[in-house]
Amino acid sequence: MSSAVSAERGFSEANSVHVVVESFRNTPDPRLRTVMASLVEHLHAFVKEVEPSHAEWQQAVDFLTAVGQKCDDTRQEFVLLSDVLGVSMLVDAINNRRSTEATDTTVLGPFHMVDSPPRELGATISLDGNGEPCVFTGQVRSADGTPLSGALVDVWQANGAGYYDVQQPDVQPERNLRGLFTTDDDGRFWLRTVVPRYYPIPDDGPVGQLLAATARHPNRPAHIHVIAGAADHEPLTTHVFVEGSPYLDSDTVFGVKQSLIRPVEVVDDPARAAHYRTANPFRLLEFDIVLDPTEARR
Ligand code: BEZ
Ligand code: FE
Repeated sequence: MSSAVSAERGFSEANSVHVVVESFRNTPDPRLRTVMASLVEHLHAFVKEVEPSHAEWQQAVDFLTAVGQKCDDTRQEFVLLSDVLGVSMLVDAINNRRSTEATDTTVLGPFHMVDSPPRELGATISLDGNGEPCVFTGQVRSADGTPLSGALVDVWQANGAGYYDVQQPDVQPERNLRGLFTTDDDGRFWLRTVVPRYYPIPDDGPVGQLLAATARHPNRPAHIHVIAGAADHEPLTTHVFVEGSPYLDSDTVFGVKQSLIRPVEVVDDPARAAHYRTANPFRLLEFDIVLDPTEARR
């Protein structure tokens, strides 16, 4: 066999992308074919740039193995990995090119893994009372300003100690700090909760080890998660962040947008406290949500 032929047939550093992309040429699904070609191109470029030793490549394989092994029904380590690499936020940005009026989106996170229970407006979602009492209210509107009555507002958050119910099944009541609310005739929602606190993402696994090895902290600033939806409108997944919270400038999952930060005022007004069926003075978090009509999606 001539050396010219073996060069054509063999795998080399120079032809690696071509050879492997070619191996996928009969992929029936054109999207999968495109994705695999791009993956091979970028992965090979990465390996050629980094030039890992065999030991380093084995370390990478061991890391991904550990990420998989850490996953179970209530722990999604691959989502965490995607989050701390900024990929979750990038996918979110690519898939939410909305009008300038619509509320900004941010990452879903791994803790919306159980359904939020439907609750009446004004109900409390804090079943363990762990945290400073707070009224959370807002209006859901369409991009043209029309209030959206009957909109669904799905809310979830960590407790005053920084844990979600699913992280502490033996400590917190089931469905603690979760609720599914329906807006009133004016598109308004309101509920009672506790002021959220900043917290670390679960860092007792391989993603936590990666953060430690790279001198990154695991914390997220205080926030409440919201998914809002209304008939004929694009659903929206976002958070409201607490003004003044630590880590607003260094969220470990890159989820903060300036437009989503709100004050949690101290309100000293007996009439308003009575209106919200809460003790005076009280903390108040207001967050209006604007949805794009379905046809406005670009
Ligand atoms: C969260 O906000 O619930 C979250 C987001 C990303 C990673 C971990 C937690
Ligand atoms: Fe969260």
